[in-house]
Amino acid sequence: MLMPKPLLWSKPSAVMRYAVAVISVILTLLLARMLEHYWQTTPFVSLFFCAIMFSAWFGGLRAGLLAIGLSVLVFDYYFLQPLHSFLPNLNELPRLILFAISGLIVGLLSAAQRSATESLREARDDLAAKVDELRRTNDALQEEITERNRAQQALHKVQADLAHMTRLTTMGELTASIAHEVNQPLTAVLNNANACLDLLMHGAPNLGEVREALTEIIDDADRASAVIMRVRQLAKGAPIEKSLLNLNDIVNDVLTLARYESAARQVAIRTELSEGLPLVLADQVQLQQVLLNLVVNGMDAMSAVEASRRLLIICGRRETRNSTSEALISVQDAGIGFKSEEVDRLFEAFYTTKPQGIGMGLAISRSIIEDHGGHLWAEQNQRSGATFSFSLPAAEIAKS
Ligand SMILES: Nc1ncnc2c1ncn2[C@@H]1O[C@H](COP(=O)(O)OP(=O)(O)OP(=O)(O)O)[C@@H](O)[C@H]1O
Ligand SMILES: [Mg+2]
Repeated sequence: MLMPKPLLWSKPSAVMRYAVAVISVILTLLLARMLEHYWQTTPFVSLFFCAIMFSAWFGGLRAGLLAIGLSVLVFDYYFLQPLHSFLPNLNELPRLILFAISGLIVGLLSAAQRSATESLREARDDLAAKVDELRRTNDALQEEITERNRAQQALHKVQADLAHMTRLTTMGELTASIAHEVNQPLTAVLNNANACLDLLMHGAPNLGEVREALTEIIDDADRASAVIMRVRQLAKGAPIEKSLLNLNDIVNDVLTLARYESAARQVAIRTELSEGLPLVLADQVQLQQVLLNLVVNGMDAMSAVEASRRLLIICGRRETRNSTSEALISVQDAGIGFKSEEVDRLFEAFYTTKPQGIGMGLAISRSIIEDHGGHLWAEQNQRSGATFSFSLPAAEIAKS
């Protein structure tokens, strides 16, 4: 708490205030008597107003009233006829009354000024204390903001690490598929290279055939390198980088990685991708991660159902919600589904029904989609299985 600083001086004690009133009147009396004695002229009664004014200003209303009372008595006793008597004669009475009224006015005005000065001082002290309080609150708030920012940064880092870890786990389920996607073009490269060698070894080669084989080698090498690039992108913990994306490309990228796995699990995958799907402003790797998790979850959900019924349908279309345009992707399976009361739990961190599951896939996916201004939700299918969908604002809206 800030110590109040006196405006002129701090309020004196009551004894001091009354003492100053008495002393002022006594000193004024002495001075007036002295001046009267030396100049032999009309008494300097106006000096009493100075004493009253000073007493009221110094000591407040009560001290002022005491000074007025004393001054009236002294003025009556020493300066009005008959002298040295408290009973004035009738001629002098108006002077005494006038003196008393004037003293009262001067005293009241002075006391009022004193009280105004005091109020001003109190208001100033209050203000200073409030400013001080505000400054301290502000300092504390600044500290809290800095602390919160630090915590938020740490949280983002943990979330990114967690997303990365979940991505690696999901990819772990697809290692066979990924290896196949790289091996297949490499085998084709090998076959075509051998064919070229054969053609070159047997006399005059058919250059057209050689060119065709070499073109295929290049295409297959490109395919293998594209798969490796996608895997590297997914595997590394790169910082988020948003760009304009076509969700159809994301679907195709993910299906390339999951194709062999789906064949091995006897899951048919059908895509129904609309050409009018709007572009979205998003991080490519994060969206691949979300879709990869939905596809793997869908395949997992169908592992217990009859092979002929294992169908995963991936739809992509433009939707309009609250008159804003969105890109919507849904992954529909024919698996075991979930109970309606489970729907919210599916998105909880560490909720899993799988022996090898971590239960972070959907929780991370939802936070990724929501970070992009979209929604991710689950619905039970009418017949069997579940549909997981996410929507993202169309790029025109995301940018504005
Ligand atoms: N398509 C689906 N059909 C039925 N249940 C599902 C489906 N997708 C997810 N679930 C349920 O939601 C749970 C949570 O899914 P989530 O992807 O978060 O974790 P997980 O797949 O169990 O493990 P991981 O962290 O490795 O992805 C699953 O264990 C499963 O019980
Ligand atoms: Mg999962």
